[in-house]
Amino acid sequence: MIKPIQAILRGGFDWAERGLDRLVGPRANPLAQLGALGYFLFWIVAVSGFYVFAVFDTGVTRAFDSVEWMSGPQWWHAGVMRSFHRYASDLMVAVMLVHLTREFALDRFRGARWFSWFTGIPLIAFVYVCGITGYWLVWDKLAQYVATTSTELLDWMPIFGEPIARNFLEPTSLSDRFFTLLVFLHIAVPIVLLFVMWIHIQRISRPKVNPPRLLGAIVLISLLIVSLAMPALSQGPANLAQVPSPVRLDSWFLVLYPLADRAPGAAWAAMTAIGLLLSIAPFLPPRRTPAPAKVFLDHCNGCGRCVDDCPYEALRLTRRTDGAVYLQEAIVDPSKCVSCGICVGSCPSSTPFRRSQELVTGIDLPDYPLARMREDLISACSALGEGPRILAISCAHGAGGGLRPAPGLAVLELPCVAMAPPSLIDFALARNHADGVAIVGCSERSCHNRLGVEWTKQRIAHERDPYLRARVPRERLATIWASSTEAGRMTREIEMLRKRVAALPPDGPPPAPPAPAEPREKVLS
Ligand code: HEM
Ligand code: SF4
Ligand code: SF4
Repeated sequence: MIKPIQAILRGGFDWAERGLDRLVGPRANPLAQLGALGYFLFWIVAVSGFYVFAVFDTGVTRAFDSVEWMSGPQWWHAGVMRSFHRYASDLMVAVMLVHLTREFALDRFRGARWFSWFTGIPLIAFVYVCGITGYWLVWDKLAQYVATTSTELLDWMPIFGEPIARNFLEPTSLSDRFFTLLVFLHIAVPIVLLFVMWIHIQRISRPKVNPPRLLGAIVLISLLIVSLAMPALSQGPANLAQVPSPVRLDSWFLVLYPLADRAPGAAWAAMTAIGLLLSIAPFLPPRRTPAPAKVFLDHCNGCGRCVDDCPYEALRLTRRTDGAVYLQEAIVDPSKCVSCGICVGSCPSSTPFRRSQELVTGIDLPDYPLARMREDLISACSALGEGPRILAISCAHGAGGGLRPAPGLAVLELPCVAMAPPSLIDFALARNHADGVAIVGCSERSCHNRLGVEWTKQRIAHERDPYLRARVPRERLATIWASSTEAGRMTREIEMLRKRVAALPPDGPPPAPPAPAEPREKVLS
């Protein structure tokens, strides 16, 4: 049931991401930067909020006038800041919901990844509470509607001793103190939100919390244009003597309000169902908990490369425990390890050329050890016939996950392409197991293991240890970054590699270009 939904969503995201790539380029693609955008919008909301707060009057009788003053005579600074505050908050809700959907579509919420998902759920509640208390503060007709509907919703649950909706029954009952409490909530909840946002990324190495400059500039300019074209305005002063109807609702923050207004019980049921569904999602079938990575101290020199490369903070270095000459050793936290195998690819001991009977490395995946990877490579390539023999080292999550062996094509499928140490490519070509190697990873925007594509590119480009040796003929190598909906492009690029390899001489460097023909007169003389 979940898989087909994920496939449809992934297809939709892929399509939208490719379109945005063409529009703003892959680096500034907002769909690839949703977490960072969430952080960026939080700071915009915070800065514009401080500005607005400086000119806002928190008294119940003066709040509306002070907001009117901002959007009226002071529109060019305070009014623009008010609009920034409102539209950046709306955009934050949109970004958060799309981010949630994309993480679900990419299946990055199960197993050890449950933590980021689970800590994301309170973020939704905090963001909504921030927005709703904000609407309340303006004390216009919409605020009155929000206040009465929210309190009736709270009163429906037997939480408070006395019904708090009474505060809104007559003008005299709404005190300045109650209003100050709201202001306090509107400032305190974002601080808690920021703290939970920080917890949310604690199990992510090198989290992206700042969008690229171009994307940041696009967001700021768009917010400015919208703020000038459609300034945020109030909907007339609140009047507790009247029922505030009809009001224009903000469709991001107040989407559940019509339901809460008519049937508070149904609104509670909807919120509880959404909360429950999100909370149990990481633990629903199909559950797959591959064994975490394991360190083999006899082959670990404590170099720390695996610690640097792990995308999920699952590794750290600790004081040596086995009396070896090295100072440190790597240690795995099994509760954080997603078994991507990237650490296997970064360990200097992961060399398939080693002759030892049993190929053991410094850190390995018990479910798919390096020794089996080498055996699988040899056996897959031995089935290749004549003609250019291509080996595809593919990631199970991108287009490569659907790649099957074919005449002239062997496939070695891994949990992540970065699990293959660069020496494995060297091994395949130098030991004549294949004539060409295609590395087929996820799309650059949506690496399932966050950093696998980036590390592989850097290893090949000699920018990150372990390097792909210079002796490996680059003309026999292709890197293909394709999502699961780009199987067609993947196949075309593999065919291009095949043709390129077919045009190369069997081994050795390409022949020198033919010498220019001798002048005719000379030949004759
Ligand atoms: C205020 C709202 C939020 C902000 C600012 C935010 C921010 C972030 C950031 C910065 C990352 C790290 C991205 C990276 O570098 O790969 C991240 C990851 C993640 N977020 Fe959020 N997030 C928010 C809400 C949510 C919500 C509501 C959910 C789902 C319930 C969620 C689920 C996840 C998951 C599952 C990951 C980890 C993905 C992985 O394993 O690679 N987030 N978030
Ligand atoms: S397999 Fe290795 S790199 Fe991947 S999460 Fe586990 S320890 Fe980190
Ligand atoms: S990369 Fe290998 S040798 Fe280096 S610390 Fe990790 S396990 Fe040990």
